[in-house]
Amino acid sequence: MWRQPIHRFRSVARAAVALALIAGCGEPGRPAPRDPASLAPFVASPEMIAEEMLRLAKVGKEDVVYDLGSGDGRIVITAARLYGAKGVGFELDADLVRRSTESAHRAGVAHLVEFRQQDVMTVDLSPATVVTIYLSRDANLKLRPAIRTQLRPGARVVSHDFDMGDWSADVVRPLLDESGMTRHVYLWRIGAPQPTR
Ligand SMILES: C[S@@+](CC[C@H](N)C(=O)[O-])C[C@H]1O[C@@H](n2cnc3c(N)ncnc32)[C@H](O)[C@@H]1O
Repeated sequence: MWRQPIHRFRSVARAAVALALIAGCGEPGRPAPRDPASLAPFVASPEMIAEEMLRLAKVGKEDVVYDLGSGDGRIVITAARLYGAKGVGFELDADLVRRSTESAHRAGVAHLVEFRQQDVMTVDLSPATVVTIYLSRDANLKLRPAIRTQLRPGARVVSHDFDMGDWSADVVRPLLDESGMTRHVYLWRIGAPQPTR
């Protein structure tokens, strides 16, 4: 008897996040993205998911974390705060870049992280040892050539909720968020260069 309302709540919560990603209403009052380069609107990863992404990638002090579409900057700020990692967040929205920079100062990690207003499709990924993504499956597919050719062996790619098509993940971790919704975190470890496809 009690199960039904919980299931209904989960379905509604899942539908709300999907709608936000599709319609671009990640925050109340935020207009739908108009930038033609936009691959997804701003919807923040819950803190516990962001932390799990970093844990799964085994982020440490020696790492350089690139968050592609960094939103409010929480992933690179958390990586710096918890592990002392360096990080760069790439974000189209100038206001989010400004907010992220302010948050980094407030968190005392401004010496470790920076935020650039830049289209992720133009980023040189080669300095990164960890790449985090929460965009869409299509965006992941567009990013695959750069991931394949630019990341060095040993680098890790972590995606919140979206896979990489026929690239099978090394780890897929389902997680319940605070609202009871199941999220998935995917990890790929970059090995020796593969033949071009
Ligand atoms: C779903 S949010 C994820 C935010 C953050 N990575 C997180 O997990 O909390 C996606 C973000 O990517 C940004 N974005 C979308 N397309 C982009 C692009 N082509 N270049 C840079 N940022 C982009 C959006 O503005 C948005 O803030």
